[in-house]
Parts: sequence; structure tokens; C-alpha cells
Amino acid sequence: MKFFIDTANLNDIKEANDLGILDGVTTNPSLMAKEGITGQQKILDHYVAICNIVDGPVSAEVIATDLEGMIREGEALASLHKNIVVKIPMIPEGIKAIKYFSQKGIKTNCTLIFSAGQALLAAKAGATYISPFLGRLDDVSTNGLDLIAQIRTIYDNYTFDTQILAASVRHPMHIIHCAEIGSDVMTGPLSAIKALAKHPLTDIGLQQFLADHAKGNN
Ligand code: E4P
Repeated sequence: MKFFIDTANLNDIKEANDLGILDGVTTNPSLMAKEGITGQQKILDHYVAICNIVDGPVSAEVIATDLEGMIREGEALASLHKNIVVKIPMIPEGIKAIKYFSQKGIKTNCTLIFSAGQALLAAKAGATYISPFLGRLDDVSTNGLDLIAQIRTIYDNYTFDTQILAASVRHPMHIIHCAEIGSDVMTGPLSAIKALAKHPLTDIGLQQFLADHAKGNN
């Protein structure tokens, strides 16, 4: 399973990249605003800064909701760097935009996926990735992991190339369950990625090994 980090924070991106396990980055307009990145030029520059840290796919989201606007913005984003993936919302105009970009060989990430039907449509349009929002479904008492499993079955039935990018991941158990189900990618915060490494028995065991080594060498 590929690991993407879901943030526009350059320090977090660097820290995850330095671990050596990072495959890509996802952002969205809320994450950009959270970092104080506003205004068209600053936003475009920030995407380039992210691409200069991570050698992997970087999702950059369009703001337009009409076909012409999505195509204009998406082409401008794609021209920034070879690793940019154009993030398009799951709306009817978005499906048309995904079809357009897939025919032009531009990679897309269909965002705001909350049902299997939406995932099926995005795959048929040729999306490179689809982003089902796991945590946001859990937030409304619906099992987000069930949706990931349902989409996995559907894509495998027809050997769609579209990759399942489990999004809105909130904690390490989400990551582990996504890996069990066979999600192609997961995107989550640095805290969830780092939490995978933690185990109290590892810390206790290491302390003991170091203490015993010190005894023998005194
Ligand atoms: C997807 O790509 C989104 O950026 C993201 O995962 C949404 O996560 P949230 O529900 O924690 O805001």
C-alpha cells in the first residue's frame, strides 16, 4: 500500500519524506488555507515547493465547478510539475473533466467519494485515483471501511486500473484496516503515520537491552 501524507504543511511533508516511506502528497483547499496559503500565485508556488520535497504524485485541487473552468485550472496545475495529479470533485461536470484529462494523459484524483456508485462512475471516466473519505463517513455513523471494501470488490470484478486512495484517514487503525482490505493508497496526517511505529513493549525492550549492554561494558 502506498503512503501519501494529507497536508500542505511543508515541515510535516519533509519529516514524513525523511522517514523514507512516503510515496506522495494530497492537499485540498482547506489544508492550503490552514497553512495560510492564499492567492493564486502563492498556491501555485506552494504546489511546486511540495513537488520539490517529494518525488511522487502530488494532488492539487481545482476550485472551478464548471467543465471549462476545471479544464483551464487543471491544465495550469498539470503544467506546474510532472508529478501533479489534478484533483477533481465528484460532480457531473467533474466526471466529464476526468474523461477529458484521461484522454489527454493527465492524471486525476476524483475527490469527495462517499458511495460505490460514485467510485464506479469515476473509474469508468478513467480516473487515476478515487478518494473515498473514510473518516468523514465514520463521523456520520457509517462504516467508511465497508465502502473501501465494496469499491475493492467492484474494481477487482472488472480489473479497473483506477487506484483506491483511502482519504480522510484519522488514526493508525484506519491505515491497518485499509491495508487488510487492499486499498492501493492511503492518505493521512503525519501523526497517524508515526503512530504506526509506536509500541510500549518496543520502548521497554530497547531500554532493557541498552541497560544490559551498559552493565556488561562497565
Ligand atoms: C482527501 O484527499 C482530503 O484531503 C482529506 O483526506 C480529507 O480529510 P478530513 O476529513 O480529515 O478533512
